[in-house]
Amino acid sequence: MKIISVVNQKGGCGKTITAVNLAAALGQGGKRVLLIDLDPQSHATFSVLRETPRVTITDLLEAASTNRSFPEGNLTVELAPNFHLLPASLGLASLEHTLTSRDDKLKIVEKFLLSAGLDFDYLLIDCPPNLGLLTLNALVASEYALIPLMTCDFSLQGTQILKNILLMIKEFKGSAPAPFYLLNQVDQRSRYVKQFLQKTRQQMGNLLLSSRIRTNVHLKEASANGCDVFRFKPDSRGAEDFRSLAKEMQRITGEVSWTPLFLKKQNLEEVYVVGDFNDWQKEDSYKLKKIGPDLWSINLSLEKGTYRYKFLAENKWIPDPHNALSENDSFGGRNSLLQIH
Ligand SMILES: Nc1ncnc2c1ncn2[C@@H]1O[C@H](COP(=O)(O)OP(=O)(O)OP(=O)(O)O)[C@@H](O)[C@H]1O
Ligand SMILES: [Mg+2]
Repeated sequence: MKIISVVNQKGGCGKTITAVNLAAALGQGGKRVLLIDLDPQSHATFSVLRETPRVTITDLLEAASTNRSFPEGNLTVELAPNFHLLPASLGLASLEHTLTSRDDKLKIVEKFLLSAGLDFDYLLIDCPPNLGLLTLNALVASEYALIPLMTCDFSLQGTQILKNILLMIKEFKGSAPAPFYLLNQVDQRSRYVKQFLQKTRQQMGNLLLSSRIRTNVHLKEASANGCDVFRFKPDSRGAEDFRSLAKEMQRITGEVSWTPLFLKKQNLEEVYVVGDFNDWQKEDSYKLKKIGPDLWSINLSLEKGTYRYKFLAENKWIPDPHNALSENDSFGGRNSLLQIH
């Protein structure tokens, strides 16, 4: 089961529209998909479900956190063949509040997912517009973070906090979801947008998805009509864009495992990662992207196996300070270790 959190603390950047329509597109492509609405505002729920749900994610997280059994019967609502929903409710806000005093407060969603016996190919989590406990829970449980961005400079600046959170999660549990950025509400006719696309591509490299979601009124109308764009207007540009995003996400989440690496260090000009996977050679495709004033990152796609590596910056070898796994190298230093299962 591939778990993808759709996340950005900035409100209104397209998390819900992405979570709903990507889930629907993957379902149309024959994958079994569950959309989890983890936002107390319940926008994803309202945008695809008319009736009052029998079971919500709030009930299930409450049960998981108090070791009670789950309700009898189906836990999810089938919206279309292959496309299920776990609805939200306003009660998620008070649940989040009660979690704050618990030791396992970051792991309740993960605990629920491990115990619920869900059988899906993809699980998409629509996160609330903040970096509170619900969002952190989603990220801790996920392998991928899909981050919709509006096409404007402020949206790039806003993601720095999120990147620091991913780094914190990496330190907390030894791994973090691999971040992928998605440009939303793109109007390719404008010159500003063309320049923005070029700049963002340079800055983010393969962290930026090639699929883009154009502004399309049918996406908005579909959610106002309580359904995804494929049921509402399957031949629209919105549907076309989400079909291509689904293909790209299937490729990314396919065979290889994505491992995000981070380096937080001041006053560096450029940073490479070198290791067993590239014969310890400094190569352009292994150059980290500067994603914050002192934060560098790269997503490595690796087959199963064990790999040794280091960062190389300003002709200095730097073991990964955010990875506790390491071993001595033959030069009196340390190599960081990655184990991909
Ligand atoms: N590509 C698009 N084309 C047209 N309308 C869009 C597009 N993307 C988003 N919108 C509209 O912009 C608004 C905000 O989108 P959405 O609800 O998906 O954002 P969000 O990040 O989930 O917001 P929140 O942070 O409140 O949860 C909605 O009205 C949505 O219909
Ligand atoms: Mg939303």
